[in-house]
Amino acid sequence: MFQSKIAGIGYYVPKNVYTNDDLTRFMDTNDEWIQERTGIKERRYADRIGETTTTMGIEAARIAIERANTTVEDIDFIIFATLSPDYYFPGCGVLLQREMGMGEIGALDIRNQCSGFVYALSIADQFIKTGMYKNILVVGAEKHSFALDYSTRGRSVSVIFGDGAGAVVLQPTSEPGKGILSTHLHSDGADAEKLAMYYPGSSSGIWLDQDQQPDWPKQELGGMLMTKEMLDDGTAFPYMDGQAVFKKAVVKFPEVILESLTKNNLQSTDINLLIPHQANLRIAQFVQKTLRLGDDQVFNNIQKYGNTTAASVPIALCEAWEEGKIKDGDLICLAAFGAGFTWGSALIRW
Ligand code: ACO
Repeated sequence: MFQSKIAGIGYYVPKNVYTNDDLTRFMDTNDEWIQERTGIKERRYADRIGETTTTMGIEAARIAIERANTTVEDIDFIIFATLSPDYYFPGCGVLLQREMGMGEIGALDIRNQCSGFVYALSIADQFIKTGMYKNILVVGAEKHSFALDYSTRGRSVSVIFGDGAGAVVLQPTSEPGKGILSTHLHSDGADAEKLAMYYPGSSSGIWLDQDQQPDWPKQELGGMLMTKEMLDDGTAFPYMDGQAVFKKAVVKFPEVILESLTKNNLQSTDINLLIPHQANLRIAQFVQKTLRLGDDQVFNNIQKYGNTTAASVPIALCEAWEEGKIKDGDLICLAAFGAGFTWGSALIRW
């Protein structure tokens, strides 16, 4: 049985910076409200045309592959986590495979929202452990900016999210005690509709009140993808019950971090750096307090990028590494919680 390690890591964020003040051009909001509630000062938005979830993923992937001292030709499997794919189908994994000129290797898309990267890493870890693959490219990328409600109606959701991508290359390691020590994945669908984007979807609006549903299409078979009415009444955009998310996240984050520590006979004092999914600074601070972690034990960069969902953990991990905050032998904990609800953690000896 092999152990897997992160051999290379990279990230990419678009050049277009939108500060909280910039958002006041579109909606009734202000810097103080956003910073106080979320910690966010600015976020990046991809170019409207030409820059996609896949193209951003490719930028991050190129850096990760180079830093892993490997080549595009050596990558033998792709796992791509995103909730904002270029197309409804097929997924971004095959688009990346094509654009990077890779061989006919397997490509798998993960639709697990904010915990997507941790889920993807866990799957990649299993493939390395069994010896099936030796160079797995794991990408987390999002282009949220194409589907946010920038009117005042959507402000409590839209101010939170930003675009970007992160990637790692996972390889086997023979160094004892090094690499991914364990991963832990969970879900609870009881609150699936509390953080969701309902369209396009085959449920055809069953979660909405009947009187909210437009008449179109009138045919007996077939559902609706998206209508003008949905854009007008806001149901076409992501929905979030912010307080429900907050309450669940501050319980499940610490729980799944402690689970990974207990499994490895370690304690929170052993963590050199916790990289939480950058959901909201207040959630991260709550988790830090619950686990009694010091400021130097937790890495946050939501201030600069907002919440980039599946991309947030690899972007933060890469930035922390580039800033010299991760050293050989450090104990790194990745943890994420998001829509579904789904959550997970990965404990890594760097
Ligand atoms: N700017 C100014 N005012 C706003 C904004 C805004 N962007 N958004 C909402 N408001 C107003 C509301 O209209 C409301 O006004 P009212 O009192 O006149 O009706 C007031 O602010 C309070 O609104 P709430 O929705 O009750 O605000 P709350 O204090 O709950 O904060 C928030 C909202 C920040 C979303 C909070 O619930 C939260 O932190 N939730 C956690 C959710 C989260 O972090 N999600 C991240 C994405 S999901 C994930 O990654 C796991």
